[in-house]
Amino acid sequence: MTDIPGVIQKLSDTGDLTREEIICLLENRTPELQAFLAEKASATARKHYGNKVFVRGLIEFTNYCRNDCYYCGIRCGNKNAVRYRLSEEEIVECASHGYDLGFRTIVLQGGEDAYFTDEKMTGIIRSIKSIHPDCAVTLSIGEKSYESYKAFFDAGADRYLLRHETADPEHYAKLHPSNLSAENRQQCLYNLKKIGFQTGAGFMVGSPYQTAGNIADDLLFLKKLEPEMIGIGPFIPHKDTVFAGEKAGGLELTLYLLSIIRLMHPAVLLPATTALGTIDPRGREQGILAGANVVMPNLSPVGVRKKYDLYDNKICTGEEAAECMNCLKNRISRIGYEIVTDRGDNIKYLNNRNKMKEGK
Ligand code: 5AD
Ligand code: FES
Repeated sequence: MTDIPGVIQKLSDTGDLTREEIICLLENRTPELQAFLAEKASATARKHYGNKVFVRGLIEFTNYCRNDCYYCGIRCGNKNAVRYRLSEEEIVECASHGYDLGFRTIVLQGGEDAYFTDEKMTGIIRSIKSIHPDCAVTLSIGEKSYESYKAFFDAGADRYLLRHETADPEHYAKLHPSNLSAENRQQCLYNLKKIGFQTGAGFMVGSPYQTAGNIADDLLFLKKLEPEMIGIGPFIPHKDTVFAGEKAGGLELTLYLLSIIRLMHPAVLLPATTALGTIDPRGREQGILAGANVVMPNLSPVGVRKKYDLYDNKICTGEEAAECMNCLKNRISRIGYEIVTDRGDNIKYLNNRNKMKEGK
């Protein structure tokens, strides 16, 4: 099948593609087609969100992790990782510093660290929400039980990021030890949605053993889940992992996928990730021009940043939060977009919630 114009027409008209159609797009990628899709995708983002780019302040509050994912620099098996935890006070202080800089979404991200019990997490969420009720709190702390997720939600957390990593169980097993499964990961995502979180899923582009079929399955999984946020970024090897010698994912393929995802999910919140900015100095700007509409500058205290070392050469590990914010503001305004500091909720999610409130 090579009816590329037909596939693109279907993608823009319906946002839906079959597995074969996605593979066809992947196999026929050219710079021209990529530029064409980027234009369509960024126009779609502008239709829903204007030239606004939302910011999320990322606080990496612990790099302890009980898991041993083969790609990740803070895997428990990495004895070279220098471990740290922020105290509850430090986390709340950091959130308040972010608030003063204009952030209205705070993302608390960490490894799966048993020290942060549900009680501690709900305490932190409540503190931040009581001091800054107009701020959205997003969690990104991995796989938990339904009850834990519910407790976080009831404490006031608004959103949850949990990349599905890869939808295919066999590929999943090549990236993770056997105690982790694609099935459990996906169940967690359905639980989060059911509880009412604005939910984010996603995957790494160019992870080891990834095939075009895997990417197609990832896009079909995202279509089925319909998350409010989708995070994708290139895989980047880390020197102390099983995949130290593997090749990084490509910039162009990541940009192409951002455009396809935007066309499949017109209203989704789609970050131009730090990993994208790491493989290319203008990666994040190019991401926005390909249809992304979120950036997530780092709010973690500078003293711990280098330690949250998921992959080699991560950017923004030496800058103060204010510097990152200014740097991004400049980068975004140079390409004709504008950073905005409202909560930046998913428009479709808000509409559905309002309809439910009105009893429709
Ligand atoms: N390269 C790129 N992304 C990575 N992540 C973890 N390790 C790497 C790596 N080596 C991503 C995973 C995880 C998110 C927090 O960071 O997709 O879900
Ligand atoms: Fe952190 Fe540019 S965004 S220094």
